[in-house]
Amino acid sequence: MPKTRYAFVGTGGRAISFIEPLVTTYREANELVALCDLSPARMAYYNGLMTSAWGSAPVPAYPHDRFDAMLRDTRPDVVFVCTTDATHHEYIVRALRAGCDVITEKPLTIDAAKCKSILDAVKDTGRRVRVAFNYRWAPFRTKVKELLAAGTIGRVHSVNLEYLLDTNHGADYFRRWHAQADVSGTLLVHKSTHHFDLVNWWLDAIPSQVFAFGDLVFYGKKNAEARGDGALAAYPRYTGHPEAKSDPFYLNLEESEPFRKLYLAGESDSGYVRDRNVFRDDITIFDQMSLNVRYRTGQVLTYSLTCYSPREGMRVCFNGDRGRLEYHEFIGTHMNRAVRPGDFKLDEKPGAEAEGEWIKVYPHFKNSYLVPVDAQHGPHGGADEILCRSFYDPTSPSTDPLGRFAGHEQGAASILVGISGVESIRRNQPVTLLDLVPLRSEATRLSELV
Ligand SMILES: NC(=O)c1ccc[n+]([C@@H]2O[C@H](COP(=O)([O-])OP(=O)(O)OC[C@H]3O[C@@H](n4cnc5c(N)ncnc54)[C@H](O)[C@@H]3O)[C@@H](O)[C@H]2O)c1
Repeated sequence: MPKTRYAFVGTGGRAISFIEPLVTTYREANELVALCDLSPARMAYYNGLMTSAWGSAPVPAYPHDRFDAMLRDTRPDVVFVCTTDATHHEYIVRALRAGCDVITEKPLTIDAAKCKSILDAVKDTGRRVRVAFNYRWAPFRTKVKELLAAGTIGRVHSVNLEYLLDTNHGADYFRRWHAQADVSGTLLVHKSTHHFDLVNWWLDAIPSQVFAFGDLVFYGKKNAEARGDGALAAYPRYTGHPEAKSDPFYLNLEESEPFRKLYLAGESDSGYVRDRNVFRDDITIFDQMSLNVRYRTGQVLTYSLTCYSPREGMRVCFNGDRGRLEYHEFIGTHMNRAVRPGDFKLDEKPGAEAEGEWIKVYPHFKNSYLVPVDAQHGPHGGADEILCRSFYDPTSPSTDPLGRFAGHEQGAASILVGISGVESIRRNQPVTLLDLVPLRSEATRLSELV
């Protein structure tokens, strides 16, 4: 059987989680044929790892303005998109129109116009897009899906999801491009797309209406000054500023080889500074967001995202007409340090003690009970490994009884909650998703969407 040919666009910190398994564990069935990025230095880092660490050969590296030439020259079957969020649509659409299938990192894209361009390109070409929603593939979250689908708490009428990002991982979004709304769509798109996707998938429901609030209350210069932390805003970035060493938000890009080779070495060729001060002036996203969502099936979600918490994790509560299910996930925190999957570890942070993961069912009129689930290790609660198998292993099933494969429409159903939320904050009014993007108005269940 011929190998499946992959080209990667976007060779930053995340791509390593997909490139290493592709060229090592799954090399018999797959082939990496090219890389593409803004930064030649970052591509050179990956090509260095091919020979030094992965027993593989370097591949052609194309600058971003030669993406179409890369498709012509190297004829990939699949283009894997791992660039900054605002550029996903460009590469997805161009790859589809060149006859390739696409796997894209979440979020599918960041606004309604870009989302429509992707839906149109799939319609025109008949090619396939998969969204790498790794959250769905973590065993605890899969167990929640199984329990709800089995009717354990009857019909679910409402969900509460509180997500906390801490001053380690959460703060990191404010150092980088994620802090610009026009690049990340805000964290309501970039980050919450995971959470909205989980709820869509857990309920098998399509969101229909959103009302939201969002504010910047912690990061940014004005907030630091207002609470007496103005000294933390005195330097533009952390690396190369010894006066920042005792700053709890300090990040030194000299600290590790991946940081040095991916980000310091790539500054001059791409202009990307990875360690900007989280208390600078030009942050255009919120660090505190809350919203209500109504689904086409009638349920409601109450959601909040706080980005300056001492601890990281989530608490999700489902209220059904036969009981209640609670899922708590406080497994510690990590910052994307561009390490290989085998070197991944959670950071030890004082005050961020991990209480673990558990699922508890509270049936009406009966005793509550904990649901046993085997503990998992590895990046993202073991999800990345299972997800990679589903991408790369030709013997893995092409359909999934739990519906974990997410195509472009399911990717859209998730981002549109965040995009509507941003629009709702702007207008101070509820927003109807169908007014933004005509996502199959006849469908009611997520599983009816590709
Ligand atoms: N599912 C997850 O758990 C998870 C975790 C981290 C990141 N991500 C996603 O992965 C993607 C990459 O994130 P990251 O953490 O690797 O970011 P990063 O900043 O480390 O890398 C982004 C890369 O995109 C490149 N790039 C930017 N604009 C480009 C353009 N126009 N053309 C080509 N390349 C361009 C940059 O040069 C950089 O190499 C994002 O979409 C992010 O949402 C997902």
